[in-house]
Amino acid sequence: MADLSIEFCGVRFPNPFTLAAAPPTDSAEMVARAFEAGWGGAILKTTSVETEVVELAYPMMAGLDYEEKKLMGLENIDLISERHIGEVEKDVRALKKEYPDRVVGASIMGAKKEDWQELVRRLEAAGVDFIECSFSCPHGMPERGMGSTIGQDPELTERTARWVKEAAKRVPVVIKLTPQIADITAAARAVKRSGADGVCAINTLKSLIGVDLDTFVPYPNVGGYSTFGGYSGPAIKPVALRCVAEIAKAVDIPIAAVGGISTWRDAAEFLLVGATNVQLCTAVMHHGFRIIEDLIDGLDVYLEEKGMRSVKELVGRSLPYIVEHSHLSRRHKVVAAINRETCVKDDLCYIACRDGGHQAIELDSNRLPKVDEDKCKGCGMCATVCPVYDCIQLRPKVGAV
Ligand SMILES: Cc1cc2nc3c(=O)[nH]c(=O)nc-3n(C[C@H](O)[C@H](O)[C@H](O)COP(=O)(O)O)c2cc1C
Repeated sequence: MADLSIEFCGVRFPNPFTLAAAPPTDSAEMVARAFEAGWGGAILKTTSVETEVVELAYPMMAGLDYEEKKLMGLENIDLISERHIGEVEKDVRALKKEYPDRVVGASIMGAKKEDWQELVRRLEAAGVDFIECSFSCPHGMPERGMGSTIGQDPELTERTARWVKEAAKRVPVVIKLTPQIADITAAARAVKRSGADGVCAINTLKSLIGVDLDTFVPYPNVGGYSTFGGYSGPAIKPVALRCVAEIAKAVDIPIAAVGGISTWRDAAEFLLVGATNVQLCTAVMHHGFRIIEDLIDGLDVYLEEKGMRSVKELVGRSLPYIVEHSHLSRRHKVVAAINRETCVKDDLCYIACRDGGHQAIELDSNRLPKVDEDKCKGCGMCATVCPVYDCIQLRPKVGAV
């Protein structure tokens, strides 16, 4: 088996798969079951000092299903944990005693400097492995000047991260960023300037997931009213992947990736764009802790296929291939090539090319699609809509560079 262990901010994880701060980590009992299943680490759900009032509203979840597939996206109006630091300290102690080889992180949020620093001191004393600070919850908390209010402002990010770092004498500090900022690298740079040890990207995106067409009340319906929530799950993966890659290219700082990771393939992609740790939330809420088996097996087999002995060899390998748009070659010309043997004659490529492309596909007398190479620009839309794997490929245009 390949070596799946990884180091993130100086902390060794037996494997990179970590539970994100969220409902699956809201008690020691749940995290213990996850560790038994094989998870490498967990970040306990965001906690606060005892004086912080946390009142939740129910129901707090609503899903976005797409073409009969459940939960392409999940919106929640959950807040930070109702369990304050006193209970979380006990969880940390119990988990570190029982599972010394697993990583126990704790997520915190404070209203003022004293709160942040008290949380850090108490968690360090309890034996936590690292501290994650949520500067990024997009709903509920910003109304109180917390959450993404901090993460959207690099100055506030730097100042608050400094407070936390000042108090942390022993353990690394990781700042969890919001994708809802014009330039996420500005936030990551602010974290770096503060002296904090790493970033976690991303938290959920502020959303309104849908409206009930009978009652006119958006989801989730809390006694006849709704509010904006945080969007997570497979639908946000491209945003998260972009954020991680942007930070990795611009700032020399360890990155924990989170956002839409459901499979080992997703995880590998995040490692390839520079993450050294991967966190999961919605996939676990949907399918349970047991997905860790597939995550570990899949990543292991992939590494073997690639001839790699350690997961570390993946980290950042895709970054050199990401350039600015203006640096992309304009001399690279491709055309669509359709495999008429595997074509299922669903006309999808024809329709997409006709109404969304360059009218380069015609249907012959057998209703088989045929590409006019003079008209085809190689946009790739036909291959994107084709349901048959590899039926349509983009090939270099004859005579082009
Ligand atoms: C119901 C729910 C509660 C969450 N609570 C927290 C939280 O307390 N602290 C935090 O930093 N992130 C919280 N998150 C955000 C997740 O940790 C994660 O950043 C986000 O869901 C994206 O990852 P995913 O697509 O794997 O779910 C929560 C997410 C969900 C769905």
